[in-house]
Amino acid sequence: MTYETLLLETRGRVAIITLNRPQALNALNSTVLAEMRQLLGELQADDGIGAVVLTGSEKAFAAGADIKEMQSLEFVDAYRADLFSGWDDVAGFRKPMIAAVSGFALGGGCELAMMCDFIIAAKTAKFGQPEITLGVIPGMGGTQRLTRAVGKAKAMDLCLTGRLMDAHEAESAGLVARVVDQERLLDEAVAAAEKIASFSQTAVGMVKETVSRAFEQTLSEGLRFERRLFHSLFATQDQKEGMAAFTEKRKPVFKNR
Ligand code: HXC
Repeated sequence: MTYETLLLETRGRVAIITLNRPQALNALNSTVLAEMRQLLGELQADDGIGAVVLTGSEKAFAAGADIKEMQSLEFVDAYRADLFSGWDDVAGFRKPMIAAVSGFALGGGCELAMMCDFIIAAKTAKFGQPEITLGVIPGMGGTQRLTRAVGKAKAMDLCLTGRLMDAHEAESAGLVARVVDQERLLDEAVAAAEKIASFSQTAVGMVKETVSRAFEQTLSEGLRFERRLFHSLFATQDQKEGMAAFTEKRKPVFKNR
């Protein structure tokens, strides 16, 4: 299947999705959303894929939601279509997804990167929620996910002033997991994804689910949820294999059973 706004490449068990609207700095329009939902649905169902890397161009991961597409919307249109709610499907993708960010990740672009499980940034990356400069506010999770990632002070600063944050600041603030040279960005993200895809996919899925839960519930509920899932892994062959391989000083062979 070919897409108008996305490129897909597979390297072993890793799928690389590249946002591809260079003429608009990868602005996220309704076609990007429809194609992302379609493609992620396919990758979800594909047992050959263990992890995904989402990236953009050197100049822009994505410069936001498509301003030209939404410019003439009225409140009633936005409300009745529940504008941007479709992105919840992207955030709800069940396999690990790493954002490899170079250049601008602004507005919806920053929000899309934050829907991924973690962000690896090139030194050139710039993050921001400049919606305030357009007379609106973030609408794809920016006020919520950014605040959870960097805390109230910096989230307020970014959302209220619309200023951009460079990769170094984003890493110290906790938004970004690693910062690398631009030339190494994709290789670093793919290597991380390959590593993840080599582990027991049951345990990997549970890590994603439990860490994500930390943002949804209390500590005691989260700890209980974690412990129960941890217990359940003793019903898997992969746990037997992983621990046997350790004691036998060999590499484990996980079968996802
Ligand atoms: C539509 C966009 C766009 C966007 C860039 N373009 N960002 N089109 N939506 N978000 C288009 C430009 O119009 C231009 O097309 C082409 O991409 C190149 O952009 P330039 O502005 O010429 O590039 P440059 O001078 O290098 O400036 C880069 C930039 C600037 C600083 C990133 O493009 C910019 O400020 N973009 C908007 C960033 C933004 O405000 N994002 C938040 C969007 S709102 P033409 O055809 O003119 O050459 C959002 C919120 C979601 O995401 C929820 C709200 C309700």
